[in-house]
Amino acid sequence: MNNTPAEIKACCADAYGGDAVALLLGESYHPGGPALTRRLAERLRLRSGQQVVDVAAGPGASARLLATDFDVTVDGVDLGEASVDRARKLTDEAGLADRARFHPGDAERVPLPDGEFDAVVCECAFCTFPDKHAAASEFARVLRPGGRVGITDVVVAGAGLPEELTTLTAWVACIADARPLGEYSAILHQAGLRTVHTEQYDDALTRMIDEIDARIRLLRMTAPARLAEAGVDVSAVLHYTTLARKTVQEGQIGYALLIAERPR
Ligand SMILES: C[S@@+](CC[C@H](N)C(=O)[O-])C[C@H]1O[C@@H](n2cnc3c(N)ncnc32)[C@H](O)[C@@H]1O
Repeated sequence: MNNTPAEIKACCADAYGGDAVALLLGESYHPGGPALTRRLAERLRLRSGQQVVDVAAGPGASARLLATDFDVTVDGVDLGEASVDRARKLTDEAGLADRARFHPGDAERVPLPDGEFDAVVCECAFCTFPDKHAAASEFARVLRPGGRVGITDVVVAGAGLPEELTTLTAWVACIADARPLGEYSAILHQAGLRTVHTEQYDDALTRMIDEIDARIRLLRMTAPARLAEAGVDVSAVLHYTTLARKTVQEGQIGYALLIAERPR
């Protein structure tokens, strides 16, 4: 794959701002859905009144959940202008605009001040950042001393991935540049963040693949025109989901939660 980092980021942001992803994924754009976001918040020990950054917030489902269920304020950042617009609209409609704000911006240059935040959340996105070291440094920069970062993401086993899962499409689908859990920890460590906890959620990845499969098969029967309008290539998606499911079953990819702390 010979794409530049800028091309990879733009492709990722465009894809997630488009109708095809909304059709295939529904509300939540990460394995484990809102239940895993709640788990992450508990592991971050979020408390009422705290300030949280959601890096790569997408349409903001997690930011709204954290604001309502954990009584925190959230600043969401996403590279996709369409995602930021959608997040603002949905958050306005939910009456949460004073508790969850959204900013266009790159995870590798977060447009927020130093040392003001109690927690950073980054769900199913760290794996897509071409410069993971820069993003990790940004997490550390915006956190106050003692603040925590909570990541959930695709992880790979050492053996590597089948060729077909190393394309730009697979990059956007959070697979091609996923790393072993230990490597995420090492990248965070180099940015001054100490991993304090990890958990494995491989089943959540299988469930998400099954849900995408079920959605697309249903839409193919009930609303083929919507799929066509959104530019979804049904057989290509079904081919990918079959390959991705097999790769999870064979233990080559999984999904993990990681908490790291900025030392006091
Ligand atoms: C799989 S979605 C996850 C969205 C959200 N975190 C969630 O779990 O619902 C990945 C998101 O990362 C965003 N993204 C990709 N690269 C980015 C970057 N360099 N900086 C900020 N956002 C980025 C995409 O626009 C997309 O919204």
